[in-house]
Amino acid sequence: MDMIQRPRRLRKSETLRKMVRETRVDKSSLIYPLFVKDGENIEEEIPSMDGQFRYSVDRLPYELERLSKAGVSSVMLFGIPDHKDEVGSEAYSEDGIVQRALREAKRQFPDLYYITDVCMCEYTSHGHCGVLCGDNVENDATLELLSKTALSHVQAGADMVAPSDMMDGRVLAIRRTLDENGFKDTPIMSYAVKYASAFYGPFREAAGSAPAFGDRKGYQMDYHNRKEGLKEALLDVEEGADIIMVKPALSYLDVISEVSKEINLPVAAYSVSGEYAMVKAGAKLGYIDEAKIICEMAVSTYRAGADIYLTYFAKELAQFIDEGRIG
Ligand code: PBG
Repeated sequence: MDMIQRPRRLRKSETLRKMVRETRVDKSSLIYPLFVKDGENIEEEIPSMDGQFRYSVDRLPYELERLSKAGVSSVMLFGIPDHKDEVGSEAYSEDGIVQRALREAKRQFPDLYYITDVCMCEYTSHGHCGVLCGDNVENDATLELLSKTALSHVQAGADMVAPSDMMDGRVLAIRRTLDENGFKDTPIMSYAVKYASAFYGPFREAAGSAPAFGDRKGYQMDYHNRKEGLKEALLDVEEGADIIMVKPALSYLDVISEVSKEINLPVAAYSVSGEYAMVKAGAKLGYIDEAKIICEMAVSTYRAGADIYLTYFAKELAQFIDEGRIG
């Protein structure tokens, strides 16, 4: 055959394939989501998320040590309080679960980087991400509570805050509150493009945060929409976000790609609980090769344009990077 172009030339050996790779994965871009819970001596496995645990503050350091040893240097903290009420008071209490966890974690592992999820749904008795007026989640009244929550996290030692509630204007409200209180340099990673997704199912079981009535479609995005994702991202850039997140990851690679092309901030993608649970379930049944799937999901997310990857598989990925199975 008279052919000049032979793409297979560059696929000939592992060394060559690695040399010409377009996407490389680095441990420093991984963030591990971590659940902390009121109580003592608790390390309980989450039923819908094999291999993921809820930790009480006294047991958290053991997990931080494992992460640190694996070379995962950033965590995203989620709090599970014992006490919930209508206005989610524990979210912004100085002695709330996240605030206590931060103080302890920072004391024992000051070199790790601590990001906190800022939302009301784990703290409200009705499970919605804001305060209610009748059945409506009140946007502007919620902004005040989110700002208080973010500030209390930063005062307790959070290095970065990540609002995940999807209220309009919350990035600006949080930015102003942090600035007024002397935290001008604390970055905000906005869950800017967050879809109302069934992929959050296992998380809601993990955090006990499913809404008691209705759903989150009045504030989280409709997954039929791509342009709207860009609108949300651009709004949060204007409001002062430092990092823009797209969530979930796996079914939303088109959105990650679009957002990363259009904005000039780092883009994070969150591979959520349902993605994790599907891989675990499929592997348990012997239907898929867990390690290979983890690597492929991660690489495709970076390939789509993500710079930062939040994943429950962070430790596994760190290990695969060390072993040269991905990279
Ligand atoms: C809080 C929040 C959720 C997730 C992250 N922050 C749940 C939700 O919006 O219902 C989901 C994370 C996951 O599924 O892994 N609002």
